[in-house]
Amino acid sequence: MKPNFELAGKVALVTGATHGLGMAMAKALAHQGATLVVNGHTPEKMIAALESYAAEGITAHGYLFDVSDAKAVNEAIDKIEKEVGDIHILVNNAGMIKRVPALEMDPEEFRQVVDLDLVSPFIVSQRVAKTMVKNQQGKIINICSMMSELGRNTVSAYAAAKGGLKMLTRNLATEWAKYNIQVNGIGPGYFATEQTAPIRVDGHPFNDFIVNRTPAGRWGDPDDLGGTVVFLASEASNFVNGQIIYVDGGILATIGKPAGEK
Ligand SMILES: NC(=O)c1ccc[n+]([C@@H]2O[C@H](COP(=O)([O-])OP(=O)(O)OC[C@H]3O[C@@H](n4cnc5c(N)ncnc54)[C@H](OP(=O)(O)O)[C@@H]3O)[C@@H](O)[C@H]2O)c1
Repeated sequence: MKPNFELAGKVALVTGATHGLGMAMAKALAHQGATLVVNGHTPEKMIAALESYAAEGITAHGYLFDVSDAKAVNEAIDKIEKEVGDIHILVNNAGMIKRVPALEMDPEEFRQVVDLDLVSPFIVSQRVAKTMVKNQQGKIINICSMMSELGRNTVSAYAAAKGGLKMLTRNLATEWAKYNIQVNGIGPGYFATEQTAPIRVDGHPFNDFIVNRTPAGRWGDPDDLGGTVVFLASEASNFVNGQIIYVDGGILATIGKPAGEK
């Protein structure tokens, strides 16, 4: 049988899709036929985002709400279901990182990161899954990180949250598989986004470290995530439950090599 990657007739909500990786994944889902709902929390960024979607011929439905606020999430999803339709695909992408040495980190800052990167995917998934259970179908994709597996200086809160998100993915997959809801994750490696532009230049120590550390020998392009998100959103992945697919150019597969070695 021909595998089915078609998303026509499906409604996809991507959180934090006003720029960056969320926007790239949202565009991939829409180009594959999904009706797209994008979330963000800054009005000006949403306006610019909707223009960017329209420039690619995508009609995106924009909804501003704070994914860490359970009441706001419940109200927004009620509205989306009324105005656009039941959500079949949820990508929990909104996230943040704070780089502070663990000895100096204020516990309140630590909580903020865990709140957005771990508690919010739970809040949004719980609400959306209620409708998915009713419909006996759904796809939930949590955007994890290599820091779901590895530590690194200054990112204790982020690593704790993304490691937790990996286990939340496995647990929700376990609880909801019986409703024909598949919960999986994507762990992006180092990606060329606006934020990393200043350090992505030859000779910059961090750029050279990443290029040397990555078997593929380059930064990821946000479009590199498109195939994986479409696969996990489509019927082609109906027997894939609780997996994290690392799209990292091979970083997690290797111990790395000394600088200068080809
Ligand atoms: N960039 C990488 O190389 C990389 C690597 C591994 C994993 N990741 C993960 O991939 C995801 C996206 O990363 P990114 O670099 O593309 O992020 P980004 O450019 O900083 O975008 C974050 C998005 O989340 C939204 N957002 C932030 N707080 C929100 C809230 N409380 N409620 C609703 N939306 C909120 C932002 O909306 P506004 O536009 O309104 O601010 C924005 O659309 C994150 O989960 C990140 O941890 C990224």
